Amino acid sequence: MPSLLSPSPVWHPYAHLKTQRPAPRVVGGEGASFTLEGGETLLDATCSWWCMIHGYRHPRLVRAIQQQADTLCHVMLGGLTHEPADRLARELVRITPAGLDHVFFSDSGSVGMEVAMKMAVQYHQLHGRPGKHRLLSLMKAYHGDTAGCMAVCDPEEGMHSLFAGYLPRHHFAPAPTAPFDAEPGAVEQDLAALRRVLERHHHEIAALLMEPLLQAAGGLNMTSPHYLRGARKLCDEFDVLLVFDEVATGFGRTGRMFAADHADVTPDIMVLSKGLTGGYLGHAATLATGRVHDAFVGDSLHMPSCTAPPSWATRWPAPWPWRAWRCSRRRTTWAASPRSTRYYATSCSTTQAWPNTRQSRTYACWVPPR
Ligand SMILES: Cc1ncc(COP(=O)(O)O)c(C=O)c1O
Repeated sequence: MPSLLSPSPVWHPYAHLKTQRPAPRVVGGEGASFTLEGGETLLDATCSWWCMIHGYRHPRLVRAIQQQADTLCHVMLGGLTHEPADRLARELVRITPAGLDHVFFSDSGSVGMEVAMKMAVQYHQLHGRPGKHRLLSLMKAYHGDTAGCMAVCDPEEGMHSLFAGYLPRHHFAPAPTAPFDAEPGAVEQDLAALRRVLERHHHEIAALLMEPLLQAAGGLNMTSPHYLRGARKLCDEFDVLLVFDEVATGFGRTGRMFAADHADVTPDIMVLSKGLTGGYLGHAATLATGRVHDAFVGDSLHMPSCTAPPSWATRWPAPWPWRAWRCSRRRTTWAASPRSTRYYATSCSTTQAWPNTRQSRTYACWVPPR
């Protein structure tokens, strides 16, 4: 039964149960906006947590899902395969940095990261290095909300500090401080801090995880491509795998198709989600190089149930990501436009930048009409 505090049994994420006003009811969406039951149309400047990069009700996406659902909705990839999964995997291999030739599907960004972490730890086990069973992450990092992911999110400022006693312990290096346009010399301090942690703990570190270029949920902390290049070198030196979490940055969100492209760096493992399906269905892909993949010959990697349902994989159109970037850039401009009256917006910096916002936690804000 719904309680006095909430008229609906839906338990909303990020809601303060005591102070949260009833959530506005969304009845439809078109392009960059969605409509409330009262008829009011709001620009979705959050992209629904950075997912809806093609906008709502895109005819091609809707048609593809409808058509595929009529043929085959889901079949396990354990021991079976299907053409849409194969086609999508090939397309991802084509557009991601050279060398990422293998694709493991799962069902959300968090699970995609779990797959990456397991892959890294198992990779070292298979090479006879079982001691490399911890991970190195960065302060300000956000990698998802499963237990494994919470353990590699910022342990102090992040939203998971409450769970410290419950989570496995990993290593953290300071968040990079050099800005996007920093000269190579300006990242030396950041890289020296990374090196110090690796020097001390590399014998037990399987992988360095990072949101390349942009630590998104942790405060939109941007860094330089030189930092990515330096991190790549350090990982090679200390026999640590490099994992790029491109769940938020992938598909054009930093101006190139992937943040890795700014630095011309190929990570050993890369995770994609959000824009992968334009937010229409939850899904993720964890890509790996041949070096990582080949270590598993003679062994296997476990997976969750809903792996690559064909309904979203089908007819994934190649030119879309580029259009998606233009769309999201335009959306950013709209979000800053004084002509619009009301937005649903996210991200700390946006929230902080706009006066008169009514915050309901750091991540979402309503900007009242002018
Ligand atoms: C960088 C990054 N990694 C992982 C995740 C987790 O993805 P999901 O919410 O689909 O589990 C997020 C979500 O915001 C993210 O921004």
